[in-house]
Amino acid sequence: MDFQIKSFDDYKAKYKASVDDPEGFWADIAGHYKWQKKWDKTLEWEFKTPSVKWFQGGKMNITENCLDRHLETRGNKLALIWEPNDPKERFIRYTYRELHEKVCKFANVLKAKGVEKGDRVALYMPMVPELTVAVLACARIGAVHSVVFAGFSAGALADRINDSSCKVVITSDGSYRGTKEIPVKGVVNEALKSCDSVEAVLVVERTQWSVQMKEGRDFWLHDELEKVDANCPPEPMDAEDMLFILYTSGSTGKPKGVVHTCGGYMVYAGYSFANVFQPNESDVYWCTADIGWITGHTYIVYGPLLNGTTTMMFEGVPTYPSPGRFWQVCDKHGVNQFYTAPTAIRALMAAGEDHVLSYGLYDLKVLGTVGEPINVEAWEWYHIHVGKERCPVVDTWWQTETGGIMISGLGNHSPMRASYAGYPLPGIQPVLLDQEGNEIEENEKEGYLAMKFPWPGILRTTYGDHERCKNTYFAHYDDYYFTGDGAKRDKDGMYRIIGRVDDVINVSGHRFGTAEIEDAINSRDELVAESAVVGYPHEIKGQGIYAYVITKQKPDNPDKLRAEIIETIVKQIGRIAKPDKIQFVSGLPKTRSGKIMRRILRKVAEGDTSNLGDTSTLLDPDVVEEIKEGAL
Ligand code: PRX
Repeated sequence: MDFQIKSFDDYKAKYKASVDDPEGFWADIAGHYKWQKKWDKTLEWEFKTPSVKWFQGGKMNITENCLDRHLETRGNKLALIWEPNDPKERFIRYTYRELHEKVCKFANVLKAKGVEKGDRVALYMPMVPELTVAVLACARIGAVHSVVFAGFSAGALADRINDSSCKVVITSDGSYRGTKEIPVKGVVNEALKSCDSVEAVLVVERTQWSVQMKEGRDFWLHDELEKVDANCPPEPMDAEDMLFILYTSGSTGKPKGVVHTCGGYMVYAGYSFANVFQPNESDVYWCTADIGWITGHTYIVYGPLLNGTTTMMFEGVPTYPSPGRFWQVCDKHGVNQFYTAPTAIRALMAAGEDHVLSYGLYDLKVLGTVGEPINVEAWEWYHIHVGKERCPVVDTWWQTETGGIMISGLGNHSPMRASYAGYPLPGIQPVLLDQEGNEIEENEKEGYLAMKFPWPGILRTTYGDHERCKNTYFAHYDDYYFTGDGAKRDKDGMYRIIGRVDDVINVSGHRFGTAEIEDAINSRDELVAESAVVGYPHEIKGQGIYAYVITKQKPDNPDKLRAEIIETIVKQIGRIAKPDKIQFVSGLPKTRSGKIMRRILRKVAEGDTSNLGDTSTLLDPDVVEEIKEGAL
């Protein structure tokens, strides 16, 4: 793509142009894509309601841009490489032509099952090639995909299916992750007991386990593929039609369905990928995320394919069969751009250098991180031992809601500094706000990170509840999109992300609302009176989960009760939300108006009780002493 930035001077010029004339800037970038009909209006927006519309009147299909557009020049180039969990199993590779055919056939299966434009389809799948194919097949026919990370529980899956009344579910018989064997179809069967909207389930065969199939509802994908042909023209979509829903946690209530639309998301995914990772035509790019999260959507599937890049997906985990697996896979496939999470880097760092030093990693050109702040030590380890001090590390800050990377290095075309995400991409206008919502103009200051102008990848709504979208992101500060993060700007204007300023915990790069976990704990209401959950610094995961629980009676067997609480959370949310520590308490520090003083709980969880502030005004100051004494 010739919208790739080529130097830091080029960056500065483009950044200026994007602020002087945002519509002209984005129209120029959008012009690089294939539109069935050009848009009439580049942008219409206001952040009050909010209402943001990009490229109105334009008609397109993102899969035509990811696949068909490349067939003439890149038909025989690899589009997808799949590396299995077990290194002894054979990997799978599809060319652009093969991927195109697979997507068309899968799309025809969906049509045969009655899926129409606008219908919602839930994907609950392991990292197998069919997941990428299924995502694109939905987009091909204008169905809205809702990918649910396959680590979520049956209850969490059912909530998500019901929230958007999905008509079809796509899943697999089972899955392999490291040494674990996961009964994926069993979870779906359990979830579907409470989902009336689902008419059909398509099951990918991965493990060949015998699973329960419901007659008339459940179908093996391979049987259905035999009945269809490979001709499936891309459905013409309005730029502002929904492309997908992705559920994410916030500080209140249940997870919400973040909605992205076809045209703007496409433009932003392709543009940000090309600039941050700077791929060349022959490069192999690997993002280790799961497609169940936004990183996998934008930077395994859409971003790379929009640029005609070879993208790799990995079924396994970083430590199986050894903590050298990532590096072995990089050497095996000649990976050029490698994108992972700080939590994985910290875990591999803890396993010792020998694992990484056993591999050459000669092909690596750009290293990326995402999901949480990266500490200087992990950044340096990554830069020195993985990148051999010759690869730039791009620390990419963004969110499910932003659709794509917002603040980041751009390959080796911008300055980098350990633990700093860096500068905003051209087209992105971040600001730091103070408590009152005034913009902080000076550098060397901290504030709340917000955006003052829309970009094409911004979320449009939260599914079925626009008011919630407004209240969560646009009501804190008038005329700004509020990120929920705090940030610092250094003397040169580079941004450093400090972390969430709301009640969201970021565990290994995965977001949980404290309220969501508290609700699960409190649902054991025969035993639990109340609970409060906070995050605390964790060496590997970034943040750990610390739960303070008031029981109705003093527990006779605290370990048993802990296990029961954990089991409830695993059932309602999933294994990934398990607290690291559960402390039983007789009360919580509350103000006289009944508000829990989380600041005190956070300090105790951090092991820092030296300065808890004035606790004398609390409803029950004695409880703080008890909590301090019982801290884990
Ligand atoms: O707190 C920020 C953190 O992750 C949050 C977004 O989480 P999610 O929507 O799950 O998306 C994760 C992948 C894009 C942000 O509000 N975060 C993300 N990237 C970074 C980060 N914190 C610091 N540095 C980053 N590079």
